[in-house]
Amino acid sequence: MKQPVRILMLIILMFPALCEAQEKLAGVDLKNHLWYKNSIIYNLEVGVFKDSDGDGRGDFQGLIEKLDYIRALGVDAIWLAPFQPSPGKDDGYDVADFYGVDEKLGTSGDFAELVFQAEKRGLRVIMDLVINHTSDQHPWFKNARKSKDSKYRDWYIWSDKLPKDYDKGMVFPGVQKAVWKLDSLSGQYYYHRFYDFQPDLNFANPDVVTESQKIIGYWLNHGISGFRLDAVPFIIEVPKTGSEKPKLDYKFLMDIRQFAQSRKADVAILGEANVMPEENQNYFGKNGEGMQMMFNFFANQHLFYALATGKLDPFKKAISETQTIPEASQWAHFLRNHDEIDLGRLTDKQRQEVYDKFGPDTSMQLYDRGIRRRLATMLGNNRKHMELAYSLLFSLPGTAVIRYGDELGMGDDLRLKERISVRTPMQWTSDKNAGFTTADTAFRPVIDFGDYSYKKINVEQQLRDSASMLNWTTELIKLRKSCPEIGLGTYKVIEAGSPYVFAIQYEHEGKSLLILHNFSDQPQQSTFNLTGNKALTDLMQKEDQNASSGKYNIKLRGYGYKWFRLK
Ligand code: NOJ
Repeated sequence: MKQPVRILMLIILMFPALCEAQEKLAGVDLKNHLWYKNSIIYNLEVGVFKDSDGDGRGDFQGLIEKLDYIRALGVDAIWLAPFQPSPGKDDGYDVADFYGVDEKLGTSGDFAELVFQAEKRGLRVIMDLVINHTSDQHPWFKNARKSKDSKYRDWYIWSDKLPKDYDKGMVFPGVQKAVWKLDSLSGQYYYHRFYDFQPDLNFANPDVVTESQKIIGYWLNHGISGFRLDAVPFIIEVPKTGSEKPKLDYKFLMDIRQFAQSRKADVAILGEANVMPEENQNYFGKNGEGMQMMFNFFANQHLFYALATGKLDPFKKAISETQTIPEASQWAHFLRNHDEIDLGRLTDKQRQEVYDKFGPDTSMQLYDRGIRRRLATMLGNNRKHMELAYSLLFSLPGTAVIRYGDELGMGDDLRLKERISVRTPMQWTSDKNAGFTTADTAFRPVIDFGDYSYKKINVEQQLRDSASMLNWTTELIKLRKSCPEIGLGTYKVIEAGSPYVFAIQYEHEGKSLLILHNFSDQPQQSTFNLTGNKALTDLMQKEDQNASSGKYNIKLRGYGYKWFRLK
């Protein structure tokens, strides 16, 4: 072969490797770009996870000690609730310095070590990005209050008079009284969508947009893989007035996505946007150029309706209404998070049915729309019902987000105010203060009473018990990780021959899955047809189900579930 031909052949042969090397050089692993589509995310608050220095509050070092526990669960990423300096009046969602870490949790060095140690274990770190508002103790706001000529004055939203709609659009009705507050120093009213100590930033001011990009760039430089973007519909509201039908600037979302990706190609932005299905495309972007992920609040509320009543139709409808999203986009599904379950999109009658079953006492309800309990307490500690809920969560089309402690079946403390009820310290052992802290008193009480006491529910005990909720959840996560069809494939909900059975079928790269869930506490017979007369391999029981001429007949126990791979 002539020399030039040989060189040409060599180039052709090496082309893929060269491209890959170039991508790696640029810090881009394209194959890994869509990591968020097939991941499991573990949500926690550093302050309630593990205390390392005995001061009664969790910290970064404590979390580092527990990374192996999180890794062993099989999750891919941890989502940290706000950890920046904050007066803590909204548990950190009132940030007083976007570029620091709360000294109560550790130092910036501890944070860097956490990211390093997580990465070493193959865990990504996602953080809350709370830029809709600041704390009223943030230097920008303090400066803005001083004078109408302050550099920061226009970073917030002001009005000379109390607007007519001052009590419209409150996020915390029953606790909050208005969305405008008189600033005694400057004599004008400032706008706050949330509590009055959380003045909204003015995103119509380009300096605020630039600053939010700096914040994103800063944390990406510190090893963060993505952001849970807080309060998205309120960030993009222009002008911010509290009106019930505001104009929204979706372009902002495309811009920050573009900015973030220019700094880290595989960054993921997960939006907190509780919106109607017809609005989804605006947030994801027509071609997926907006936020990569959003929490599926719409499905979540209808799922709780289904769990409470066994009536599946509204949930099936919600899954179908949220089915069409751009290819690179992804839903994040969850059961519980750190807030109340928001049931605001159910009808009054449906909401009442969920209240009757899961939150009958008014002390369990919050903000006229939700329930401030953990999953286990709502499901009456019924293991079968809890398994049904978790098996369903991991089988829904998207990325599953779980909350610390739910893998144990932790409970809540309704004596704590508002949403703090579901934010109690992690229960590690049956030792004093649940092994969370060696201090005499934890900064927030551990649950030490009733069926959910740390003496009964803790990691140490559950690790030893092969039948524990913790070991069961770990197995389920393992199973989910062996089924990429769920995160990456296409799906259809199929008729399952019983009004109580939810059946979903996935396809991906020639592989196919069928997953059944029985929402009734009574056994159900599920019957359906599949083309091709395939054998179903039960992925949990290791026994096959065969069909005669494409017809299947499968028995599910009360609250039963089955995962099949189609052969
Ligand atoms: C949504 C968060 O989930 C919630 O906990 C917080 O209070 C508000 N945003 C305000 O940041």
